[in-house]
Amino acid sequence: MKKILTIVGARPQFVKAAMLSNALCTSGCFNEVIVHTGQHYDPSMSDVFFRQLSIPAPAHALGIAGGGHGEMTGRMLCALEPVMLKEEPDFVLVYGDTNSTIAGSLAAAKLHIPIAHVEAGLRSYNRHMPEEVNRILTDHMSELLFCPTENAVQNLKKEGIVSGVHLVGDIMFDAALHFGQIAKDSFKSELQQQLAAGEYILATIHRQENTDNPHKLAAIVHALTKLSQEIPVVFPLHPRTRDRLTEMGFGDLLRCRGMYVIEPLGYLEMLAIEQGAALIITDSGGVQKEAYFFQVPCLTLRDQTEWGELVDMGWNRLVDVLNDDIVDVCRNSIGSRGSNNFSPYGRGDSAQEIVKHISAELSK
Ligand code: UD1
Ligand code: UDP
Repeated sequence: MKKILTIVGARPQFVKAAMLSNALCTSGCFNEVIVHTGQHYDPSMSDVFFRQLSIPAPAHALGIAGGGHGEMTGRMLCALEPVMLKEEPDFVLVYGDTNSTIAGSLAAAKLHIPIAHVEAGLRSYNRHMPEEVNRILTDHMSELLFCPTENAVQNLKKEGIVSGVHLVGDIMFDAALHFGQIAKDSFKSELQQQLAAGEYILATIHRQENTDNPHKLAAIVHALTKLSQEIPVVFPLHPRTRDRLTEMGFGDLLRCRGMYVIEPLGYLEMLAIEQGAALIITDSGGVQKEAYFFQVPCLTLRDQTEWGELVDMGWNRLVDVLNDDIVDVCRNSIGSRGSNNFSPYGRGDSAQEIVKHISAELSK
């Protein structure tokens, strides 16, 4: 049996890893050892995903979170090296673009362990985003690069990366297909049961560029508050956002009728609430795509997106937080639909495709 060492740490990585972990296990060819860096650690940001998605418990839980980007990444790097030396994996598997991703890929590269990067080739072309640096460097260190879209393949080509590149579709599409119906049938949160389907807005905000800029955060809070006077707004708070709202004194503004500020939702409750929304307002990468999977119009409060095909198809619109009238754009977006002329994220069999390519690589 070949050994795969999987590095996860942040909420979206648990969703992606769930699908692949299951596929690796059912193939019968791999022994997967999961390492949780600890980057996300609240039960609502971590445990609930392992439980709901039946992800095997991590063999190594490093308990590293917080601090600056350099400090967090450095501490993870120090802790990952002995784990990799002990486990001697055939491949290290990393997901997406977080600090856990770059720490995992860098630790592996230094030890000459081949790396497989799931969600390779995405670019926002904004190097101020910590994620952009993480994903570029990880792509350049990886032996196998699993791209979710044709755009991602082309982005890698522009940087001279063509070997080991595989277009496999988006693993979050696999997850949404698999869990979407279960969620809709059985995981409506108490709040959702009180709201009429198609008659509320769902908002998620956590990007550093929004939360840590008082002008942007104020503009978002004012817009959501104003909208909540017209249509209920459900706002599950990422811990980073919760902390910044408190520090900047914006928390009280959100205490108004029609505004439902809640704890982060479990994945299944989240999929259920997304499916019933009239509009999704977000700065999340994953939530942008889930909005499209469930055919809900989406506004992304950012200047760029790595998922540009959704903007091209008309399912997503970028909103300039400081210069656009967010409320007006929202009013105009409810009820809008994009095109379904092509399906950019594959067939929902991305996990099987990835297992196939890793197996082929290891039997060379
Ligand atoms: C990270 C990723 C981002 C991803 C997001 C998913 C990086 C650079 N960023 O951002 O790409 O979109 O995860 O949600 O890796 N905190 C808690 N409890 C938790 C987790 C975080 O209180 O369980 C608080 C801590 O104060 C922490 C802050 O949130 O310092 C930010 O967490 P961090 O993991 O550094 O970044 P995210 O904003 O979550
Ligand atoms: N998510 C969740 N509960 C929430 C908010 C998000 O389960 O309260 C899920 C969401 O459905 C998606 C993933 O977390 O699958 C996205 O994570 P996040 O927005 O934190 O990160 P990003 O995708 O921007 O990296």
